[in-house]
Amino acid sequence: MKKNSFHLNTKLLGLIGHPIKHTYSPFIHNVASELLKLDYIYLPFDVPSSNLRSALKGMIALGIRGFNVTIPHKESIFQHLTDISEEASIIGAVNTIVNEHGKLNGYNTDVHGVIETLLPYKEEIAGQEISIVGSGGASRAVIYAMIRYFKPAKIYLINRTTQRAESLKVYFRDKMKFDAFKTRELFPPDLVDIFSGSKLIVNATSIGMFPEIDDSITELANSFGKDQIVFDLVYNPLQTKLLQIAQANGAITIGGLKMLVHQAAKAFELWTGEQMPIEKLNKSLQLFIKN
Ligand SMILES: NC(=O)c1ccc[n+]([C@@H]2O[C@H](COP(=O)([O-])OP(=O)(O)OC[C@H]3O[C@@H](n4cnc5c(N)ncnc54)[C@H](OP(=O)(O)O)[C@@H]3O)[C@@H](O)[C@H]2O)c1
Repeated sequence: MKKNSFHLNTKLLGLIGHPIKHTYSPFIHNVASELLKLDYIYLPFDVPSSNLRSALKGMIALGIRGFNVTIPHKESIFQHLTDISEEASIIGAVNTIVNEHGKLNGYNTDVHGVIETLLPYKEEIAGQEISIVGSGGASRAVIYAMIRYFKPAKIYLINRTTQRAESLKVYFRDKMKFDAFKTRELFPPDLVDIFSGSKLIVNATSIGMFPEIDDSITELANSFGKDQIVFDLVYNPLQTKLLQIAQANGAITIGGLKMLVHQAAKAFELWTGEQMPIEKLNKSLQLFIKN
């Protein structure tokens, strides 16, 4: 990570959200800039909703090149943007903004993270039933990627608050003309059959994320089997309890780190015009996390 290596031309990048808890994004972007010898610094900014408008005005006034956007601004930021990419507009969530000479343009790079992560399994997923747990911003990106690129036959949309899953179903039915949705409450006893019949199971909730360990989904991992793919968006810990159990039962398991790096790489490219050196970065990140 850069230490006091800024000078007059250093450009600023950052993350806005509230609360800003643990995040690997500063590490990823600062190391990528350093590896490529680019003059950027990335900082986290804790911005509550009441300050969002002023923060964006400040971004323009100070010439900050770009921000990642996280909870709770991913949807409310729309009204402050000049242009929104087609993907972000269909998904209904923005996680990256680029300041183009005072005009703020919004993108969703989470979807690139999802696509890059699941690309090796594209043929296996096509035409199959899948389950997505969660109905927040990340789930929206997963749903979009599935309908647009992976073509499952049916999506079970499972959430603690069923009403939210129901709203997403209606939203994507209208936006993407995809009808093969079924919604369910996140109530493990009712889900065993659905999960065991799903080729892909995605956890797009914060269940299992450090420091909270929640078992409400993990008991379901016992119903996973050998020809299933389990993708947990949580990246801290790297190997969640859900993945541990699924792996012990023979499932193919994928943690959230690859998605994190690929969504960051897309944002980095939008801001700097450069490709993130993903392999080198991955090595540094693994070391950083272990220490
Ligand atoms: N790997 C990556 O690159 C990446 C990128 C984005 C997000 N993520 C991860 O994805 C997860 C979701 O992020 P998000 O942006 O979608 O958050 P969000 O918009 O706040 O949505 C949170 C989702 O988690 C559910 N949830 C939270 N706590 C729960 C609990 N104790 N029991 C059951 N359900 C619970 C919520 O259910 P309700 O609707 O009932 O509240 C909702 O569906 C987070 O862990 C985040 O770190 C990873």
